Amino acid sequence: MATERTLSIIKPDAVAKNAIGDIYRRFENAGLKIVAAKMLHLSREKAEGFYAEHKERPFFGDLVGFMISGPVMVQVLEGENAIAKNRELMGATNPKEAEAGTIRADFAESIDANAVHGSDSSDSAKREVAYFFDDDEICPRG
Ligand code: PPS
Repeated sequence: MATERTLSIIKPDAVAKNAIGDIYRRFENAGLKIVAAKMLHLSREKAEGFYAEHKERPFFGDLVGFMISGPVMVQVLEGENAIAKNRELMGATNPKEAEAGTIRADFAESIDANAVHGSDSSDSAKREVAYFFDDDEICPRG
């Protein structure tokens, strides 16, 4: 199995709930290693750039407005099948459809405020990790 890296964001709703530690515990219990992390309050420009592929979608303005409403915790997770493993831990985009025990089932209120983001493919993981982290900010842990 391949060792991968994926970008994870704990969104403003989950940060406001003081859920960072609980979510980190879930990553680590699943065998994912946090190899880079930073707390940021995103500018509108930074959030719009991150979600640029969705700019024509009707919810784009709401999504960006939500993502800049408070601080976020951004991290790179490393491990075997990290991209799929993180998506599994997160649960479905709409928390009403998220499986019990997933992060979104436990912490998200709605599809607009859904607690976490995770890269959805190898290409997006590479792009998203580089969007937030320089190479020298990532600490491989073997
Ligand atoms: S979809 O519907 O499957 O294409 O959705 P997805 O590609 O997972 O969604 C892309 C990001 O948009 C967020 N999203 C929304 N935000 C606000 N309102 C509505 N209705 C909405 N629908 C989707 C969704 O959470 C995704 O954000 P990230 O940060 O990637 O999880």
